[in-house]
This record gives sequence, structure tokens and C-alpha cells, in this order.
Amino acid sequence: MKILITGSAGFIGSHLAEALVTSGHEIIGIDSFLPNYAREVKEANISGLLDNDRFTFMERTLIDPSWLGEIDFDIVVHLAALPGVRQSWGTSFSDYVENNVLATQRLLEVLKNRTGVRLVHVSSSSVYGDRDESPLTEDLPPEPISPYAITKESAERLVKLYSKQYGLSSVILRLFTVYGPRQRPDMAIYRFIKAVSKGGEVEIYGSGSMHRDFTFVVDVVRGILSAVERDIRDEIINIGSGRAESVERVVYMIGEMLGKEVKVRRVGMMPGDVKGTLASIDKARGLLDYQPGVEIREGIEKQIIWMREAAII
Ligand code: UGA
Repeated sequence: MKILITGSAGFIGSHLAEALVTSGHEIIGIDSFLPNYAREVKEANISGLLDNDRFTFMERTLIDPSWLGEIDFDIVVHLAALPGVRQSWGTSFSDYVENNVLATQRLLEVLKNRTGVRLVHVSSSSVYGDRDESPLTEDLPPEPISPYAITKESAERLVKLYSKQYGLSSVILRLFTVYGPRQRPDMAIYRFIKAVSKGGEVEIYGSGSMHRDFTFVVDVVRGILSAVERDIRDEIINIGSGRAESVERVVYMIGEMLGKEVKVRRVGMMPGDVKGTLASIDKARGLLDYQPGVEIREGIEKQIIWMREAAII
């Protein structure tokens, strides 16, 4: 199949492109190189793909989607977004609206006229908000508590609206705190490994009971791949590990693995952060035959190896 991946130079997009190329698909990868972290890092993410005959890369934005008219594809995996929960307050909100809401709407305007094209839309666990129910099941109504999560929920609503109005075949995947090689530098595990290895202080936000369903990127990619290859439509599906780990335990685990002392500075709860997440993955198991296989310790080890190889630590 011919697959368009938006955000293909990002953390998850670059892994997905590699997996899809290996599975024999033809990939058109686009990325606008948003400046949320260094362009060189994103270029390095796709450097191993550029020589592959089945991978074509283009630097493009969805804000002006006129270039899409000349491109032929069967499926779009829409990963492009401005990510980051805690950074989305204040003046940066307009960038979140532009890149998460407007860009999605412009893509949908193109897709509404393409018969037979499918959309795999990538969303976020943050749309659930701060709630007592656990695990989080897809039927819970979104209650976002950060500006970022509001833009991700809006994008989901647009996907559902265009699908209903124009018969677009779409599926929405909600990813839970993804980690592993190429993780974004603003994310917790990256920051923790870097700080601990350099003997610096780790900042832990909120109380010791903050927890996340940390999901290894290879498991996430398997879930997306399965959604690409199966004709599932009009569904919202969680992609998590199905296990929660406290942020504090992750920090001490990293200290143990690196053989370094951990220095912790406790900082208050950050606005927009939810206290905990845990995905119900029953639906993913049933519809996608999804089976996350990477346990947190093994995943962090792989991220440490990558951070060494990339000379980050
Ligand atoms: C992550 C991504 O950054 C979002 O783009 C994505 O939408 C979201 O997952 C998701 O699940 O959908 P987040 O869960 O905040 O958001 O991921 P991390 O930045 O890795 O933070 C994980 C936890 O560590 C949070 O509880 C955070 O408060 C905490 N943290 C983070 C710290 O205690 N200290 C830090 O220095 C950084």
C-alpha cells in the first residue's frame, strides 16, 4: 500500500516509517520541522531511511496543503502535531491550535474528496483528563485539563465530523506516554536519564504517586501498523502498555541501571498534568490483535543504549 505519514521525522513517525517500509509498503513521509526541538535531531531520525527506494521524504506543512493535490496514497497516518502538555499554556496556545486543530482540518478538507482513502488519526491519552476511573476505557467522555489536550480532543472531533459528513473511513488511536529510542528531549524518561547520568538533579512534579502508562515505542508502532493493515473504521482505540508505573519508581530504576546516585528535587504539580493514566487495552487486543510485549525496565535499557550511541549521555 501507498501510505502518507505526517510527522514522519518525529520520534514515533520515524519508527513507524521504518516498520512500514520493512513490511513492504511504499511511504511518503512529510514533516514541517516544527521548532519544538532541534531540526538536526529530526533529520537524524530519518537519516537511515533516505536511501530506501520505498521511502520518499518531503518537507511540507499541512497549513498549506496545496501540494497534496499531486500526491497519490491509500492511507494517511496523521501523527504531525505540536506535542507537550505542560508547555501549552500562555502565548504558545496559538501554535497548538494551528498545528493540532487547523492542520488537521486542512488535511481533512483534502481527504473528503478522495474516495477510498483511509485515515489513521493519532491522538493522546491526555484527552481523558484527570479522573477516578482506572483503567481508562474508550467510552469515557473526554475531559481535557490542558490546552494541549483540548486541541487533541478538537482534532478527534473534526475527524469524527468529517468521517460522518463525507463518509471518510477513519480510526482514532489514543497513545499513552510513549518512550524509547528517539524520545523527544522534553519528555520525562529522556530528561531523567540525562540528568541522572550527568549527576544532576531530577525534578519530580507532583506527589510520589504520579503514575503513567509508559508505552514502549515498538509496541506503539505495532499497534499503528495493525490499524493500517486492518479495515477498521469509526473506532477510538487506546494504545498503551496496560500497566502503570509511578514516576518516582522510574527515576530510581534509571539510577539503578546507570549505577548512579539519584538526586531528586520535588516540584509542585504542574498545571495541565493528570495524576495518573492506565490504559484499558481490551479493545486494542480485540480489534487489532495488539499485544504489548516490552516491560518498562527492558524499554528504558533500550532508551539508555540509544542515548549513549547518540552521545546524549
Ligand atoms: C506525553 C507526551 O508528551 C504527550 O505529547 C502525549 O500526548 C501524552 O504523553 C499522552 O499520553 O498522550 P506526559 O504523560 O506528560 O505526556 O509525558 P512525560 O513528559 O514523559 O511525563 C510523564 C510524567 O513525568 C508526568 O507525570 C510528568 O509530570 C512527569 N515529569 C516529567 C516529571 O516529574 N519531571 C519531569 O522533568 C518531566
